[in-house]
Amino acid sequence: MLSKIIEEALNKQIKIEAESSQIYLAMACWAEVKGLEGVAGFMYDQSQEERDHMLKLVKFVNERGGHAQVSALAAPNVTFEGFREMFQELFNHEVFVSDSINELVHISLQEKDYATHNFLQWYVSEQIEEEAMARTILDKINLIGDDKGGLYLFDRDIQQLSVTTASAETPE
Ligand code: FEO
Repeated sequence: MLSKIIEEALNKQIKIEAESSQIYLAMACWAEVKGLEGVAGFMYDQSQEERDHMLKLVKFVNERGGHAQVSALAAPNVTFEGFREMFQELFNHEVFVSDSINELVHISLQEKDYATHNFLQWYVSEQIEEEAMARTILDKINLIGDDKGGLYLFDRDIQQLSVTTASAETPE
């Protein structure tokens, strides 16, 4: 059984994962209308992953005697100065999510809720991967600079990156 404190903290994370999904969906749309098909595909995949992160939490809360809350979400940015700024925002957002997961882990220990603590370890690992991937992408973008040919290749390669990442993950 979840304590009220844990239930509230997990519900807060459910909202963050839902907002993450919307943030990346907005990025997918922006990239798609700009003709960056690879980037758009990558962002659609990211958006779907975030929805999966949210659902995993929803099911955990409901199965442990809590009630998962589906709440109103903050509106995401829908336009970006450029694709570099967009990926910087993705990276910053993932750092924010990692901080939030760390705080949750901390609360689970304070509450001596070891089942939740154990459940959260999946998110801890996931955040390491997501931050690393965002950092790798930003490094690539910095290498490309303003080179249009480089952007074309980047758009082609990023789709491959998301396919590789997805296939490297073990389905839950
Ligand atoms: Fe679910 Fe990208 O954090």
